[in-house]
Amino acid sequence: MTGFDLRNLPDDFIDNPHPHYASLRASAPVYELPGGGLFLSRHADLMRVYKDRLVFSSDKKIEFFPKFGDTLLYQHHTTSLVFNDAPLHTRVRKAIAGALSPRAISGMDSVVQRLVDQLLDDMAARAESGLTIDGVADFAQNIPIEVIGNLLAIPRNERDPLRAWSLAILGALEPEIDADQFTAGEDAVRDFLAYLDALVARRRAEGVEEAPDIMARLIRETGDAEENANLLPHELLQNAIFILNAGHETTTNLICSGIWLLSQRPEIVARLNAEPDLWPSAVEEILRMESPNQLGNRRAVADFEMGGKQWDKGTLITLGMGAANRDPAVFAAPDEFRLDRDDNPHLAFAGGVHVCAGNTIARIEGQIALASLFRRWPDLKITPGMQRSPRVRFRGFETMPLHLGAAAEPR
Ligand code: HEM
Repeated sequence: MTGFDLRNLPDDFIDNPHPHYASLRASAPVYELPGGGLFLSRHADLMRVYKDRLVFSSDKKIEFFPKFGDTLLYQHHTTSLVFNDAPLHTRVRKAIAGALSPRAISGMDSVVQRLVDQLLDDMAARAESGLTIDGVADFAQNIPIEVIGNLLAIPRNERDPLRAWSLAILGALEPEIDADQFTAGEDAVRDFLAYLDALVARRRAEGVEEAPDIMARLIRETGDAEENANLLPHELLQNAIFILNAGHETTTNLICSGIWLLSQRPEIVARLNAEPDLWPSAVEEILRMESPNQLGNRRAVADFEMGGKQWDKGTLITLGMGAANRDPAVFAAPDEFRLDRDDNPHLAFAGGVHVCAGNTIARIEGQIALASLFRRWPDLKITPGMQRSPRVRFRGFETMPLHLGAAAEPR
C-alpha cells in the first residue's frame, strides 16, 4: 500500500480506519510515512518496541520542541511520565502506580454504580419528557470526570472546566494542529496549572497526612529534592494534569465505542444480559476492536533492524494500536466481536513499562457503565445524527443520539 499519510488521510478514514490498517498490515507492515518515520501495524512489531526500552524511547523533547517551542504545552507534555524514560519515568510511575493500584481504588465499584444509576434515571426522565438523549453528553463523559474528580478529591463544584482543559491539552497532540488548537492547548495548561497550584496549597494547609485520596498520596510523595522524594513540586502539578487527562477522553470513548458496537449486536447483548459474568470479556473486545488510543509514538535511540531493513538512530515510530489489535496473526477472525476469546492480548493500554497505570479503573468504569445501560435498555439504538470525533489518535464520538427503547423489567 502506498500513499498512506497521517497528515492527509483518506476521506473515509475517521469513519472506518480498519480496511486501511488491514492493507498496511498485509502489504507494508513497516511502512515509511511520507513525512518521515515508520508506521507499524503488526502486533509483534509493537510488542518488540514496547519491550525494548534501550532502543525505543518515550522521551518526546526532541519532537515536541519544534512543534511547541518554549511553551507551557512543551513543559506539560515533556514533564508527564508517559513522555519520559528512566529515571524520571521510574520515579513518577512509582508514586502514581501506588496511588492507582487495585488496593488503593478498592471500594470504587459502588461509587461508580451509584453514579451510573443516577445518570440512567436522568436519561429515563429526559426520554419521558420527550427530550433527546446523547450517549456522550448525557452518559459516557460524566463517568470519568466524576471518577477521576473523586480520586483526586477535586471539589465537585470546581469540576466544570476539567473536560474542556483536557480536550484542549490532548488535542494539541494530534499529528497536525492549527493556531487555534495551539492557543487553546496553551491556555488550558496555564489555567489548569493555576487551578491545581491553588488546590495543592489548600490541601497542604488542611493537612494531607491521613487523607486516602490520590492527590493527598501524591502530595505526600512530593519534596524539593529528588534524593528524598518521588515527585518534585512542578512534577506533581504536571502529572496530576496528566492523570486527569489520561482517563477522561479515553474512558468516555471506551464507553461510547461499547454502545456503538453492542447496539449493532443484539444477540451479544442478550447473551451478556443472561450471563453478566461475560461483561469483562465484552469490555476487552471493545478495547481491542475500537482502541480508544489508536496511535502511540517512540523514537529510536540506536540503529535497529525491522522488516528486513536497517533503520537509523533518531527514526520516529508511530505505533498503530488500532491496527495491531486486529492482527490476524494474533486474533482469529479479528473483525468479529467474540465473547469467547480465551486470550485477548490487545494493546489498547500499550505494553512494557508504560502500560496504562489506570487500566483497572478504566475497566471497572467500562464494565459498570455498559452492563447497567444494556441491562436497563436491551434494545437501545443509536439514531441518525451520530458524529465521530475527527481525531486520528483518539477514536471516539462528539455526539451519539440514542433511542432507549423499552426498559427491561427490574430483576
Ligand atoms: C479506556 C481508557 C484508557 C485507555 C485506552 C488508556 C490508554 C493508555 C495508553 C495506551 C497508555 C500508554 C501510552 C504510551 O506509552 O504510549 C496509557 C498510559 C497511562 N494511563 Fe491510561 N488509558 C485509559 C484510562 C486511564 C485512566 C482512567 C487513568 C487514570 C485514572 C490512566 C492513567 C494512565 C497513566 C498514569 C499512564 C502513564 C503510564 C506510564 O507512562 O508509565 N489511564 N494509557
